Amino acid sequence: MTAKELRDKYLSFFVTKDHSILSSASLIPENDPTVLFTTAGMHPLVPYLLGQSHASGNRLVNVQKCLRTGDIDEVGDNTHNTFFEMLGNWSLGDFFKEESIKYSYEFLSSKEWLGLDKEKIAVSVFKGDDNVPFDERSYEAWLNLGLKEERIAKLDKKENWWELPGENSPAGPDTEIFYWSKDEPAPLKFNPDDEAWIEIWNNVFMEYQKNSDSYSKLSQHNVDTGMGLERTLAVLNNLNDVYKTELLWPIIEKIQDLTGFNYKDKTKEMRIIADHIRTATFILGDDKGVSPSNTDQGYVLRKLIRRALRYMRQLNSDIDYTFKDLARIVINIYQDTYQELKRNENFILKEIDKEEKKFLSTLEAGAKQIDNIKGEITGEEAFNIFQTFGYPVEMTKEIAKEKNIKLASDFDENFKIAMTKHQELSRTASAGKFKGGLADSSEETTKLHTAAHLLLAALRKVLGDHVEQRGSNITPERLRFDFSHPEKLTAEQKEEVEQLVNEVIASDLPVSFKEMTLEEAREKNAMGIFESKYGEKVKVYQVGDDDNYFSREICGGPHIENTGKLGKFKIKKEESSSAGVRRIKAVLEG
Ligand code: SER
Repeated sequence: MTAKELRDKYLSFFVTKDHSILSSASLIPENDPTVLFTTAGMHPLVPYLLGQSHASGNRLVNVQKCLRTGDIDEVGDNTHNTFFEMLGNWSLGDFFKEESIKYSYEFLSSKEWLGLDKEKIAVSVFKGDDNVPFDERSYEAWLNLGLKEERIAKLDKKENWWELPGENSPAGPDTEIFYWSKDEPAPLKFNPDDEAWIEIWNNVFMEYQKNSDSYSKLSQHNVDTGMGLERTLAVLNNLNDVYKTELLWPIIEKIQDLTGFNYKDKTKEMRIIADHIRTATFILGDDKGVSPSNTDQGYVLRKLIRRALRYMRQLNSDIDYTFKDLARIVINIYQDTYQELKRNENFILKEIDKEEKKFLSTLEAGAKQIDNIKGEITGEEAFNIFQTFGYPVEMTKEIAKEKNIKLASDFDENFKIAMTKHQELSRTASAGKFKGGLADSSEETTKLHTAAHLLLAALRKVLGDHVEQRGSNITPERLRFDFSHPEKLTAEQKEEVEQLVNEVIASDLPVSFKEMTLEEAREKNAMGIFESKYGEKVKVYQVGDDDNYFSREICGGPHIENTGKLGKFKIKKEESSSAGVRRIKAVLEG
């Protein structure tokens, strides 16, 4: 079966079950502060899973481009990819567990559809925990379809639960479907740890909403299913390796040509190269125009390209500037399904070439930097080299070894700490929290919103420039403000922050905004999100005068006109929110 046949069959099957087809959303999510990329088909559907009505009805189906970097270390095995296509179907408050399970089983096993061998199917269900009970309904539904008890594993939350990061995500237990990938008959007892059982489909039953530390029931029960296209295609064609499917094999063939090695001898390296070039091509090919950089999506893109280049050079260091030839193959494979790749072909190839060039000069600069180090190198030094030159830490380690430079005993740990700090900051920069976070536009809320800007500026003055906003939530009664900072504030620091804010309030400074492009906002050192499209206009709110301002932030508003109207600012609480993030609750009195 071809990928196209599989996509078409999937969509047609669910159309016979009254589903409407949606097109794939962009890989780069709109208005979602919690992630950099679309990680699942349900992602663009969150508001509808939470209860809003969808224009296409309450049964939906699509094929969605997805990108996950969480599993990047698994890439290199026979099933994991950073980019993949997800075949998904949804019930928004319509059918639930029994029908969903029945549909999946029918699509997989019916001769009319995929015709997979029922004897090779196994599933897992949620076994329950302190918050949510055992998913008996799914368990029974599988038994009723004829699945043997031995083929149903009851697993914990780590395996059989789905939710997005961040608060308010729809959530729920899931049932996962596995297929035995070997020619020989499957063992009666399902062992989820046996890699011959390949997970192909995940049906999530979203009847909960995640709150900060508990789950509440949603007003409707939803179904969210996701089936991995590459894995299913491999299974259908009796290939125990997604890289051997038509979607990846041509890339592997080209890598073999270019490097002169054979896939069976350099399997892991070639899989990583093929995976990363495909993902990079899709990021570059998305109409949003993301290019390699040191923050956000651009940072992930840069990392993928450089990591792949490093493996390419490891296989053969004489093949510079061939990376775009691999991207051409990716475009060829997908251009009929994803026309944006063809549309953006020039951009894709140009950016890849540019990045390759930068990477090569980086290699030289980084090597020189390492040359200057005597005796021992620390994790922090390696991070700085990485940060300044984009020099991968694995390569720093390799070169250090060649030059007899020792790695400090806590090298890995310190590198990780520096890296985590950096990532937290860059995630902050991408979060769309400035528009959100307001409960309403009442005067009280508006005042607190302005106070939040003063608070951020004051925190940066008192604690340092590492402080960035991580989120906010403002109601008429109080503001809640999350920001990056590694430790608890002292009583003196809190007092100083309060005092600074109250001084600005007492000075009755004007609050005004100007519209400008992102580039101008950046030049003016405005705080905030820089992820909108190139050339797009944004509002920059300023407290104070042009040449003597207290705060400047990209923000959609609304704000109060003068700080004098705010009253007295008081911090009520300062606490930890998550690793490296503090949370302040504050009010305006009088
Ligand atoms: N959201 C679930 C997943 O990504 C099902 O679509 O696996």
